[in-house]
Amino acid sequence: MAEFEVTPWDVSGHVDYDKLVKEFGTDYITDKQLKEIEAITGDLHIYLRRKLFYSQRDLDAVLKAHKSGKGFFLYTGRGPSGDMHIGHLMPFIFTKWLQEKFKVNLYIQITDDEKFAFKQNLSLEDTRKMAREDIANILALGFSPKNTFIMQDSVYTQTYPKALEWSKYINFSTTKAVFGFENATNIASIFYPAVQCVPITFEEKQCLIPSAIDQDPYWRIARDVSHKIGKGYPKTAAIHSKFIPPLSGLEGKMSSSIEGSTIKLNDTPKEVKNKINKYALTGGQNTVEEQRKKGGNPEGCVVFEYLKMLMEEDDKLLEERYKNCKGGKVLCGECKQYLIEKLNAFLSEHQKARAKITDKDINKFLLK
Ligand code: TYM
Repeated sequence: MAEFEVTPWDVSGHVDYDKLVKEFGTDYITDKQLKEIEAITGDLHIYLRRKLFYSQRDLDAVLKAHKSGKGFFLYTGRGPSGDMHIGHLMPFIFTKWLQEKFKVNLYIQITDDEKFAFKQNLSLEDTRKMAREDIANILALGFSPKNTFIMQDSVYTQTYPKALEWSKYINFSTTKAVFGFENATNIASIFYPAVQCVPITFEEKQCLIPSAIDQDPYWRIARDVSHKIGKGYPKTAAIHSKFIPPLSGLEGKMSSSIEGSTIKLNDTPKEVKNKINKYALTGGQNTVEEQRKKGGNPEGCVVFEYLKMLMEEDDKLLEERYKNCKGGKVLCGECKQYLIEKLNAFLSEHQKARAKITDKDINKFLLK
C-alpha cells in the first residue's frame, strides 16, 4: 500500500483509516454505541450508518453524561482560507443533527488567526473577510442563535486570555512532536494550538468534538491539559470522520488547492456538471461492451463513494446501484448524471439559504 500522511494541514496518499486509529490511539465507533445512540435519537444519521464517522475518543463518557442528566456540549470549527467545499460542510451537517437530537449547546470556532499564521499568501484582512463568508455558509444550514455560539478568533475579546491559560501547559517540544514544528516556524503558528483548545473549556461539562480525523492531534494535546486548567473539565471527547475524497481519485482529501478536485458550495450547476464529467474517477471498463460484459467496480469509484457517503440516503437504492454496476447493467455516464442531479439539487437549496443570511444574522451568533 502507498505511503500516506494525515496532518491538520495536509492529507496525501491512500489513507489507511485502520492504521490511523492505531497511530492516533483512538477507538472505533462500536455497534453497541450506534445502538445506544439510535435508542436516544430514534434514527441513525446516514454518516453513522455508512461509517463515514468511524472513530471516537470517550464517546461512552458522552452517552453517560447525557443519560445521567449532566449533559454535554458540542464544539466544531472551520479555518477560513478559501471557498468552502462539500467536505467542509459535512461535519457541520452532522453536528447540527447531533445538536438537534441531544438538544445541546454548540460552539463553532472560526480560525481566521490560524489561516493567517499558516498561509504565507493570506493577510489577516483576507482571512477575516473569508470568515464572514464561511459563517454565512455554516448558518445557511439553519442553526439557532439560542444554543449556537460562534467564536471568531480575531473578534472574540477573550481569545487571548483563554488561550494563555492553555498555552502555559503546552510545551514547544510537544507541539514539535505532534505537529512537526521547527525552529523556523513562526511563533503565531506555534502558539495557535492553544487557541484551538479554548472552546473545550467553555462549559464545565463533557465536550464532544465532531470533525474529520485530521484535527485529532489537537485533542490529543488538549486531553492531557484540561484538568490543569480546572478540576471540572473532563478530557474532551471526539468523533472522527474519514475524508471526502477528491473528484479525481480515492487518495488524499477533497481540497480547494487541487484544481478540479472539489465541489464548492458556490459552484453553478454547469460547473458541477463539467467537473464531474471531466474529473470524476469511476470504476468503469474501457468500452461499453466490456462494461456490459464484465461489470464495473464501485469500490474504486469516486462517483459511487459520493453517493454512498453523502447523497444517496436510500439504502435500497444504493444497494441496487451497486448490484447494477457490478452486473454491467448501469454505465458510468448514468451514475455521473444521477450524482450531478443530486449535488445540484443540494447546492441549489444551500445557495438559496446562504443568500438569505445577512450581516445582522451573523452578528447574532458572534461571541463578543
Ligand atoms: P478546516 O477548515 O480545514 O476544515 C473544516 C472541517 O472540515 C473537515 N474537513 C473534511 N471533512 C471531510 N472531508 C474532507 N475532504 C475535509 N476537509 C476538511 C475538517 O476536519 C474540519 O472538521 N483547524 C480547523 C478549524 C477548527 C476546527 C475546530 C475543526 C478549529 N476548531 C474544531 C473541527 C473542530 C480547520 O482549519 O478546519
